[in-house]
Amino acid sequence: LPPNLQMEEGCGLRRANCRAKGAAPGFKVAILGAAGGIGQPLAMLMKMNPLVSVLHLYDVVNSPGVTADISHMDTGAVVRGFLGQAQLEDALTGMDLIIIPAGVPRKPGMTRDDLFNINAGIVKTLCEGIAKCCPNAIVNLISNPVNSTVPIAAEVFKKAGTYDPKRLLGVTMLDVVRANTFVAEVLGLDPRDVNVPVVGGHAGVTILPLLSQVKPPCSFTAKEIDYLTDRIQNGGTEVVEAKAGAGSATLSMAYAAVKFADACLRGLRGDAGIVECAFVASQVTELPFFASKVRLGRSGVEEVHPLGPLNEYERVGLEKAKKELAASIQKGVSFIRK
Ligand code: NAI
Repeated sequence: LPPNLQMEEGCGLRRANCRAKGAAPGFKVAILGAAGGIGQPLAMLMKMNPLVSVLHLYDVVNSPGVTADISHMDTGAVVRGFLGQAQLEDALTGMDLIIIPAGVPRKPGMTRDDLFNINAGIVKTLCEGIAKCCPNAIVNLISNPVNSTVPIAAEVFKKAGTYDPKRLLGVTMLDVVRANTFVAEVLGLDPRDVNVPVVGGHAGVTILPLLSQVKPPCSFTAKEIDYLTDRIQNGGTEVVEAKAGAGSATLSMAYAAVKFADACLRGLRGDAGIVECAFVASQVTELPFFASKVRLGRSGVEEVHPLGPLNEYERVGLEKAKKELAASIQKGVSFIRK
């Protein structure tokens, strides 16, 4: 480590000792892909989270700079940087929560599945490290295609004998964040007062907003339902096109990732009634993985909620979603089993 970071670590250790005397304990969190478009704002927001005591920032490029920068923020978490495969194990050891935004993002005209060839290998390598160094950590997987990378992670963990479905969560929170925003716009409400369950998966038609279950209860015209469903399903593409080759959603994704990670940490702390949508191992449908509301607790996913009553529009959407999801899940599983 450069001298300035060694200093930071020294100070951090003293601070950690002070904390042990009575202040609230925090969690140890690692971000893998921390120097990327999502990783950087995510690292900044996690450094601001009072539940985090130690923040490890790992990437294959540029992590020392990001670490030096973030470490100057006068918040509680101690920040340490890790660069390249040789430092992966140190980055992972002792962590409670691993957030993974490592991998390439989409460019205009690409689907999330087009990222499979590169990102599948990255996720595999990182998960092998997790199985070895922090098999009990909660994993929040952001790297696309989430519909395939979560099954990849599960297969890697199974192979290593460390798989616990409660601790592996694909992050679909951005779909919920977008749905809350777009629905609030249509209803003329504050988005903070709106909650839209979004189930299925995280790509195109697999993103299934349940507009019949919006809170507060409301109704939509057929035209509004078509508009909202299409906009929520294609929110990511809207950003990819607006960025015109410079990547996909990073800032709203970092916001969503932190909202989700914070929920996981509050669950780990033992808070009651923490419910968010995530793509997890599931028996809600016949598919082995599915996104729906889950209750988060000390062991990760403590309960997977059923979908609740669907209307005809949503039932049709569900069938379409399941068809595409089945293929994406199988693709992920085969990548490891082949
Ligand atoms: P980016 O290209 O800006 O950053 C990715 C970072 O990952 C880079 O810093 C890169 O060096 C790093 N990386 C590459 N290989 C690595 C490895 N083996 N180990 C550790 N780090 C590695 O991409 P961006 O925009 O941050 O997106 C990251 C991923 O998140 C993409 O796959 C993207 O599709 C996905 N994403 C997921 C969303 C979701 O809702 N789940 C929403 C938006 C993006």
